[in-house]
Amino acid sequence: MSFHIRDHYLYCEGIKVKDLQNAVQDSPFYLYSAAQLRANVAAYTDALAGLPARISYAVKANGNLTLLKMLRALGCGATLVSGNELRLALLAGFAPADMVFNGNGKRRAELALAVQHGVTVNIDSEFDLEHIAQAARDADKPVDVLLRINPDIRPDVHPYVATGMRDSKFGIRAERLPWFLERLKRAPLLRLVGLHCHLGSTIKDVQVFHDAAALMGDLTNAVRQQGFDLRYLNLGGGLGIDYERAGGTPTPRDLLDALRGRLPGDLTLIVEPGRSIVGNAGALICRVIGVKRNGDKHFIVTDGSMATLIRPSLYGAYHHIGFIEPVNGETRVFDIVGPVCESADFLGKARSLPTPHEEAGLVVYDAGAYGYAMSSSYNLHLRPAEYLVDGDQVTQIRRAETFDDIALALSPLSVIMPL
Ligand SMILES: Cc1ncc(COP(=O)(O)O)c(C=O)c1O
Repeated sequence: MSFHIRDHYLYCEGIKVKDLQNAVQDSPFYLYSAAQLRANVAAYTDALAGLPARISYAVKANGNLTLLKMLRALGCGATLVSGNELRLALLAGFAPADMVFNGNGKRRAELALAVQHGVTVNIDSEFDLEHIAQAARDADKPVDVLLRINPDIRPDVHPYVATGMRDSKFGIRAERLPWFLERLKRAPLLRLVGLHCHLGSTIKDVQVFHDAAALMGDLTNAVRQQGFDLRYLNLGGGLGIDYERAGGTPTPRDLLDALRGRLPGDLTLIVEPGRSIVGNAGALICRVIGVKRNGDKHFIVTDGSMATLIRPSLYGAYHHIGFIEPVNGETRVFDIVGPVCESADFLGKARSLPTPHEEAGLVVYDAGAYGYAMSSSYNLHLRPAEYLVDGDQVTQIRRAETFDDIALALSPLSVIMPL
C-alpha cells in the first residue's frame, strides 16, 4: 500500500515510480497516493465515530483541487486561512456550512466573501471583530463566529509552528474574553456559536490536547452562562507524523482519547488536521544532477531544492530520503542539496547513502503537507507538477509551472502614478 520498496525499486501503490519518472518530462514532481489519503481520513472518521464531530481539513497543508475534491467526498469540511482558499474550497464543492475561516489578518474583501457565502468566521482580535461586524452590516447578513482563544499551552514543537502561546500572534488571551463577550452582546449580526483554539503543528504529546480540552470546556461553560448559545468547539492542533520513521507517533484515536470525557457532551467537536491527512500521502521525486566533494564534505546535488520543499531550510525539518531505484556506489555521509543559490538550500543533512549515478531517482518522503503548498519559483525554478496514483492508474493533477506563466504576469507594464 502507498509508498513501499519492492526489489530495490520504489512503488506508489501499483506504480513503479522509476517508470513514471521516465514517462514524464518534468522533474522534480510531487507524487500522491490516493489509498494513503483515504486511510488517513478513515483513521479520523473511525476515531470520531459516534461523536458529534467534523473533520475540517486545513487547506493550507495542501490545496490541490483534485485532493480537495477527494477529501470533500470522504466527508471532510474545510479550514481556510485566506479568501482564495475559500474560493478554492467552493470550487472543490465544499458546502459553506462546512467551512471555517481563520486568520490573524483577514482582509475586508476576504471577510465580505465569507459573509456573502455564509462561512463561519473565527474572531482573532479586537480589530478583527470590528471588521467582521462591518462586513456583516455591509451585507446586512448575520454571520456565525467563533472566538479564537490563545490557551497558552506549550506544545513542545518548533517555535515557528507553535500557535497558542501567551505571546503568539494568533487569537486572544482568555483574560480578554469578558471584553469580547460584552462587545458581541452589542453586535446583533454576530452570532457567537463556539470557541476555537489551536496549539500548534507537529504535536506528538497528546497530553496538551487533554489540557486544552479541560480549559476550553471550562471556558465554554462560562460563556454559556452569559447567555450565548455555543454549539461548537473547534480544537486545533495538528498531530505530528512519523517523519523520522521512529514509530510512536500519536494517532487520531490517541487524540480523541485525550479529549474524551473532558468536553461538554452537547458540543459538536471540530478538529482541523492538515499534515496528518496529507503528509505521508505525498513524496517529492527528484533526479540527481551530480555528486561533489568539498574537503571532507560530500554532496548529492538534486533538481529538487528549497524552492520545491522549504521545510528543511525553514524549520530544520527532517524528511527521510532514499532512492527510487538500485544505487550501488560506495556508501558515504552526504548532504542532499538543491541548485538554489543559497547555502540554506538543502533537503537533508548528514545522510548515509550509497553514491548515486547521475540521473538516479531520489525520493523525499512525507512531503504531502506543506510541500507544494510552500513552494516558490525562487531562482526561477518553476513550481513542479503533481501526480496522483490510485491503484495502477496515475493522473496528472497539476501541470508544472512554465516560463510563460511567469512572463505573462510580468507584462504588460502599466504606469500607476502620476494619475
Ligand atoms: C489554525 C490552524 N488550523 C489548522 C492547521 C493545520 O495544522 P496541521 O497541518 O499541523 O494539522 C494549522 C497549522 O498551523 C493552523 O494554524
